[in-house]
Amino acid sequence: MATQMRTPYLLLLILLLVLHLSLVFSWKKDEFRNCNQTPFCKRARSRKPGTCSLIANDVSITDGDLTAKLIPKNPQSQSQDEDQDHPDQDPIKPLILTLSVYQDGILRFKIDEDQTLNPPKKRFEVPDVVLPEFVDKKLWLQRVSTETIDGDSGISSIFYLSDGYEAVIRHDPFEVYVREKGGDRIVSVNSHGLFDFEQLREKKEGEDWEEKFRGNTDTRPYGPQSISFDVSFYGADFVYGIPEHATSLALKPTRGPGVEDSEPYRLFNLDVFEYLHDSPFGIYGSIPFMISHGKARGTTGFFWLNAAEMQIDVLGSGWDADSGISLPSSQNRIDTLWMTEAGVVDAFFFAGPGPKDVVRQYTSVTGTPAMPQEFATAYHQCRWNYRDEEDVENVDSKFDEHDIPYDVLWLDIDHTDGRRYFTWDRALFPNPEEMQKKLAAKGRHMVTIVDPHIKRDEAFPLHKEATKKGYYVKDATGKDFDGWCWPGASSYPDMLNPEIRSWWAEKFSFENYVGSTPSLYIWNDMNEPSVFNGPELTMPRDALHLGGVEHRELHNAYGYYFHMATTDGLVKRGNGKDRPFVLSRAFFPGSQRYGAVWTGDNTADWDHLRVSVPMVLTLGLTGISFSGADVGGFFGNPEPELLVRWYQLGAYYPFFRGHAHQDTKRREPWLFGERNTELMREAIHIRYMLLPYFYTLFREANTSGVPVMRPLWMEFPSDEVTFSNDEAFMVGNSLLVQGIYTERAKHASVYLPGEQSWYDIRTGTAYKGGKIHKLEISEESVPAFQRAGTIIPRKDRFRRSSTQMVNDPYTLVIAVNSSQAADGELYVDDGKSFEFEQGAYVHRRFVFSDGKLTSSNVVPNSPGKTRFSSVCVVERIILLGLSTRPKSALIEPANQKVEIELGPLWLRGGRAPAVLTIRKPNVRITDDWTIKVL
Ligand code: NOJ
Repeated sequence: MATQMRTPYLLLLILLLVLHLSLVFSWKKDEFRNCNQTPFCKRARSRKPGTCSLIANDVSITDGDLTAKLIPKNPQSQSQDEDQDHPDQDPIKPLILTLSVYQDGILRFKIDEDQTLNPPKKRFEVPDVVLPEFVDKKLWLQRVSTETIDGDSGISSIFYLSDGYEAVIRHDPFEVYVREKGGDRIVSVNSHGLFDFEQLREKKEGEDWEEKFRGNTDTRPYGPQSISFDVSFYGADFVYGIPEHATSLALKPTRGPGVEDSEPYRLFNLDVFEYLHDSPFGIYGSIPFMISHGKARGTTGFFWLNAAEMQIDVLGSGWDADSGISLPSSQNRIDTLWMTEAGVVDAFFFAGPGPKDVVRQYTSVTGTPAMPQEFATAYHQCRWNYRDEEDVENVDSKFDEHDIPYDVLWLDIDHTDGRRYFTWDRALFPNPEEMQKKLAAKGRHMVTIVDPHIKRDEAFPLHKEATKKGYYVKDATGKDFDGWCWPGASSYPDMLNPEIRSWWAEKFSFENYVGSTPSLYIWNDMNEPSVFNGPELTMPRDALHLGGVEHRELHNAYGYYFHMATTDGLVKRGNGKDRPFVLSRAFFPGSQRYGAVWTGDNTADWDHLRVSVPMVLTLGLTGISFSGADVGGFFGNPEPELLVRWYQLGAYYPFFRGHAHQDTKRREPWLFGERNTELMREAIHIRYMLLPYFYTLFREANTSGVPVMRPLWMEFPSDEVTFSNDEAFMVGNSLLVQGIYTERAKHASVYLPGEQSWYDIRTGTAYKGGKIHKLEISEESVPAFQRAGTIIPRKDRFRRSSTQMVNDPYTLVIAVNSSQAADGELYVDDGKSFEFEQGAYVHRRFVFSDGKLTSSNVVPNSPGKTRFSSVCVVERIILLGLSTRPKSALIEPANQKVEIELGPLWLRGGRAPAVLTIRKPNVRITDDWTIKVL
């Protein structure tokens, strides 16, 4: 009887398990809308070129900007789309266009409804993204000239953008573009007449604007409010950017002759289980910033600041063959179509002309990446979940036992009391402070997870307080929005509201976050926001934020605001003296100012290893330099070979963290036999050895926006072979890394660009630049090369954590070019405070030429109020590619002679090749000196 009873239970249990697993382990295509199921996208995609009937009227200069009214050319015969969202009785009201010019070749382009005509409400413009300093860089327009451009019947207004560039507004038909002075176009909007702007309306009797998707109803109280237009990039061979998609670096066309039925690239922050490794589908974050690059013209950027759902088509050449529209045919061109559900047009054109210029221009608008805590640039060990304090202690000590450095141990959702963030499961973690202190004693840190969904539990003080204060996002009826997430019924603080953000920030104080200590930092997950029972697993679009802003208008920025509030909390906790570290899954333009981002729930397979590279590169191109993918793959169990290869590649991601799903087998680096442990140890050691180089690059990103990990074409912009290469990448300007993405690979074809040689960083072997090399691959490492003409600073002594390396001496690796010259930099500060902002840092420039190495300040006599002191010295200088065989070197000003001998290229492993080494020069990194090889 008992067995009989048990059988159906067992079957039910198995069924439930299978259901659960299929929910967790497969991409549920049907859960998410495609373009055809998204009315604004479907309408915009079906519109024909030339449909826009607007012309620019009343063009004038107002407050230093160029303004115009966009009105239908012929109000009687104004084009009405076939769709019922443009009812005949509503005449198109004028739209207001504003063009502003900023320093460094940036044109801002805004279009909104005319507020003097009393629209039902103000459309949402995303605040808090554009830097206040940027606004101050506006150049006041003085003069606009007019011109009749060849073939036009009407006139165009032309004004100065920057030296060499002009902005043009064509009045009829309406078009805006940037061109080289008096010459070729660079980027344009509405050249194909696809511009459309649906204005807000009051509902009339009998009108039904509701949209339904899988049982969810969106009330759409203001009717359709979408905007769409075409953007063309000239002299472009490829376009890049607009993360986040798991796809190639160079964006493939989504429409046009020969393109199979494809979705547009979607920008809609979503929690997607097991995303596909090659898809235009939108995942956790959104950055509507596209970069074009081509051999003929160089680089151009276009950024649309808008937080509503966006869909972007890259149109394959010939897509407009039947349109009758002719654009300058002498220039290569890539056309794109941008469509959004709501908001306004607030867009920026960046004139470049180089890749680094465009990134600098974009980050001058949205901010450069924050300078990270130095420890955060080292290796992180994560798992969902380290079970309890004993588990933590065990993992921590195993790293030491196996001589593997790591810096941060992470705790996922199950360290909390019932997924109530800021609490601890006291049965599993009875002494969280002590646990953190033990790690801190070894120079290690801890990160805990804090998600935005707050458990609706009357006994949970955070929930009680948020409810009482009215701090939650409201549903369409005005009640606190109640959705389902990890803790069950949950509500979400309205992070758009600055008052609520500062309330949230206070929760990170040591008094409020009981059990936290100064070595604890934070992980923000599920902040798209993820709502398990919401439409497309997120918040309904008609939910309401501060000031009646609909969630549809703000959606893509919700996670950004959450990240911002959390980061602010850590800054406040440290009284403004300790740099925050917050990792976020969702992101938006500007997220780089608040911390790191990772690419979410990838899978333990070779395709996901492969796609992690274009994903991280794309994030870097769009401002988010500090990012990485889960090493090993989040879902599933990697074969040891895949795991090893992932460590070998991940060691070069700017953010380097191993992480795994709770249902996977444990996979700490010592669990796969001695040889694999050794290989993973070596991979992690390489990262630790290169930390000074990485940190210098983080500083470069912080000052210029140029990312740590870069596409090859960013360093070799006129080498076409590099334009679509996303298997290899540069770390800074000196290192090229080639991933290995197949099982049992014995060979790899590696393209080494440029005219100079490249040195294998493990063997010191030189390879010629400007060719593809077929290389033998060993299990020991992925191929990585130092570019001739560069100097890389390293620290070669191995410790338990990066913090224990602070006073260690440096090694400089000089790889000379064909002129026997090289240069490089080293940036050092205290690694944790904000004093570097007052000048408390060392930033050296090393130049090797004419047989002499010179160290000097990058910024001579820097005006810094605070000084940074360091006792560190350079203990070894390695010389690669020298044509002579010097025996000694003379250090000045000390007037001291040191030996040059053959020494190991790297200190571990015993098999290191012997290379020319200046032994123990022991010059301080803070001093000016020269070393002359004799
Ligand atoms: C989803 C995140 O992407 C993953 O990294 C995390 O482990 C789980 N949520 C549980 O918190």
